[in-house]
Amino acid sequence: MEDSNRSSNPSIHDVSDLARRIVLRGGFGLAAAAVFAPLVGCTGGPPSASAPRLGFKGVAASTADALVVPEGYTASVLAAWGEPVGIAGQMPAWAPDASNSAAEQAAQMGMHHDGMQFIPLDGSRRGLLVTNHEYTDDGLLHPGGMQPWTAQKVAKSQAAHGVSVIEIELVGGRWQMLRPSRYARRITAATPFAVGGPAAGHALMKTAADPGGRRVLGTIANCASGATPWGTVLVGEENWADYFYPAEQPTAHERRWGLRRNSWYRWHEHDPRFDTVRHPNEPHRFGWVVEIDPLDPNSTPVKRTALGRAAHEGAWAAVTKEGRAVVYSGEDAAFEYIYKFVSRDRIRPAGGGLTAAQANSTLLDHGTLYVARFDTDGTGRWLPLLHGQGPLTSDRGFADPGEVLIKARQASDALGGTRMDRPEWLAIDAASGWVCCALTGNRDRGSGTHPGPDAANPRAGNTMGHVIRWQEEGDFSGERFRWNHLLLAGDAANERPEARGDVKGDAFACPDTLAFDARGVLWIGTDVGSGSLNQGEMARLGNNQLLACDPARGEVRRFLVGPARCEIAGCSFTPDGTTMFVNVQHPGEAPGARNDPAAPSRHSTWPDHRPGGRPRSATVAIRKDDGGVIGT
Ligand code: FEO
Ligand code: CA
Ligand code: CA
Repeated sequence: MEDSNRSSNPSIHDVSDLARRIVLRGGFGLAAAAVFAPLVGCTGGPPSASAPRLGFKGVAASTADALVVPEGYTASVLAAWGEPVGIAGQMPAWAPDASNSAAEQAAQMGMHHDGMQFIPLDGSRRGLLVTNHEYTDDGLLHPGGMQPWTAQKVAKSQAAHGVSVIEIELVGGRWQMLRPSRYARRITAATPFAVGGPAAGHALMKTAADPGGRRVLGTIANCASGATPWGTVLVGEENWADYFYPAEQPTAHERRWGLRRNSWYRWHEHDPRFDTVRHPNEPHRFGWVVEIDPLDPNSTPVKRTALGRAAHEGAWAAVTKEGRAVVYSGEDAAFEYIYKFVSRDRIRPAGGGLTAAQANSTLLDHGTLYVARFDTDGTGRWLPLLHGQGPLTSDRGFADPGEVLIKARQASDALGGTRMDRPEWLAIDAASGWVCCALTGNRDRGSGTHPGPDAANPRAGNTMGHVIRWQEEGDFSGERFRWNHLLLAGDAANERPEARGDVKGDAFACPDTLAFDARGVLWIGTDVGSGSLNQGEMARLGNNQLLACDPARGEVRRFLVGPARCEIAGCSFTPDGTTMFVNVQHPGEAPGARNDPAAPSRHSTWPDHRPGGRPRSATVAIRKDDGGVIGT
């Protein structure tokens, strides 16, 4: 796990008073209710007055190699790794021995499904699924794993990254892929991207292959995603640092971004642009939020540099009362930051021959980026990353606005943003104005020379993670906010107080995915690392899972348990709420290593359960047998 922030900020947040932390941790405790009374009121009244929103019978923790859903629900596998996405004339069948070529993989679902958005085409009966493919396990991706390691295998790994667009339809109560489809598309680590915003054409973005600094090949490490009101999908580039191979002694700038000489992917051995000695600016072209228009399969996706460079988990849009876009994001790395971007311009409607996506094709190129500072009194501030203001000046290493964005981490260090416990997904409840962020955990908090607990990140050795939330002052564009903890994850049966948490309901750890449904239920997917699952403090928690949280009552109930050694990733709904799509990522992930190609079924055979076969990441569609709304 990356941990590259050696800045000393922000000491003013350090909270050594345990009593103070207890007040702040009790999202729904009496003390917290008193401190945050105006916030609690905004959810629609005191918790006891709201009707229960969780109507299903929770499922037990499980360690089985099976997907478990509540009684009265059915889950069906929809789009596993290797299924052809449906490009006319290019629909190669999946080869269970992983013998598909790189070209075939580039027309098939990529590996290790992550963030996902359902884009309706015909209400809740037909639509697009836009799915990220975060990383590859090259032990499973090729018949012989990485032995030998070849240019063809690098090309296949690159083709298994990126994003898939598929068209799906509900037929007789069951979702199926429509193939061929005019929307079917693969975006990979080789697809041309445009660059938008202040860093487009910047000297630090220029390479030998792209002297203009405005055209980048590919997107990688695509973790979470969010749909925009103008019909596009925003995708994060998260652990991109793992793909680059620097000099034996990386520069201070490279070290701040986590570049180190242990490239997990070994792409640089056959693709020199991932060798930063030869191509030092190539890493600057990753770590952006990318915007994709899934309704136009011929559109060029864009890297939106105005949103800042980071290990972006994903990005999520809200709309202000006057119609401007606000995009929240965070970076999932230990002790890194939460950001928001406020657009300069208002969102434009479709018209004049333009779709909504086309009418807003430069909306995210102009605006202000902020980093979050969480203060001990339950308020917070958004600190603007504006060139020329405060420490963001040429003499401090920020020559221009583009350099501030390319070096957003260093700018946030200088401004004093709050160093968080690995920000994962955010979710916005537009009705109440609550913005939630999953902080998946940070076992280094408070150890050695690492920062100790602070108000926002209140536990040392934070193995369990928490969900923080805030409401903006005035509107989503506000520069101040009030915050509290929705919950601290954990298991009340744990011996270590810091690992018990305050969950009212089913125990869980390591929140990652967050998604509000239309009823205001917050769905929480977990990502306990493969090396920690079902042992130690995680012993009673079972496989990774999806839980429903009723924020008004603070109640948490386990809805789904995934197969062995998976994590639960994307979660998206049809507009009527009767189908939930969930991505099951990396079933059978080997702890801390790749899978052994000689024994691909050692840790899981889900979903095919073919003897000796490979486990496959897959999207599942979940419906209630009576056709009702999920979770009721
Ligand atoms: Fe890709 Fe932060 O999970
Ligand atoms: Ca994630
Ligand atoms: Ca994660």
